[in-house]
Amino acid sequence: MNLDGQRGSARAHTGRGWFVTFEGPEGSGKTIQAARLRDRAAASGIPTLLTREPGGTPVGDRIRHILMDASHDSVPLGARADALLFNAARAQHVDDVIGPAIARGELLICARYADSTIAYQGYGSGLPIADLRDLERLATGGLKPDLTILLDVPVEIGLGRKGSDEQQRFEAGFDHAYHERVREGFRLMAAAEPERFVSIDATADEAEVEAQVRRAVSGLAGLAAIGAVPGGDAAGEPDSPALRMTR
Ligand code: TMP
Repeated sequence: MNLDGQRGSARAHTGRGWFVTFEGPEGSGKTIQAARLRDRAAASGIPTLLTREPGGTPVGDRIRHILMDASHDSVPLGARADALLFNAARAQHVDDVIGPAIARGELLICARYADSTIAYQGYGSGLPIADLRDLERLATGGLKPDLTILLDVPVEIGLGRKGSDEQQRFEAGFDHAYHERVREGFRLMAAAEPERFVSIDATADEAEVEAQVRRAVSGLAGLAAIGAVPGGDAAGEPDSPALRMTR
């Protein structure tokens, strides 16, 4: 997007917005960290929109309901139907929410995006990754995040953070080995695209994770204010050891 693959460069912001996604296994803290980043960015005067997948549009929310509802277990949704439904919701989301916000020059923060389909329906359910990439291109028009923050957490810790009443179809209906494959899939994607991903150990306490998120985001050209410490220097120097450690 606005960085041409040069995250952290000193190049001036071009006027287009930024696209930041949070990814990770179940219980990694994406929702809270995405909300904290939104609050921080807004407090820094950066026009910001927080959204999530599946969802983010009226039709996306209806598709989310179908996907998350475990009550049709007598006629389970198959992995191909899952992949198509997630991408149907995504196509609408890109057209109606994500694309327009970036075009307006805003910071668009999304909890989960296309990498989740590769991790869950690809690595988890075993659908061919190449086919899922083709589907992703159709759904997104090739729109990739400027920065993807992977909140990495061991499966047993992540699942353990959610009470049984909070568990939806993917947490409750898929076994431990499935979630291990999902986690490994995210880690492989992060290793394959180090210029886009920053991986953060999400077993750290929330404040520490939040500080690392800020450092990562403030490495994007034009967003240094997000890393600024009150009364101090910007914490978001792209070459700071703290950021290097997280890559
Ligand atoms: P959430 O609970 O983090 O909002 O995510 C909803 C669930 O949907 C979660 O278990 C991950 C799963 N999911 C996929 O399997 N594929 C996808 O493409 C997305 C976006 C989510």
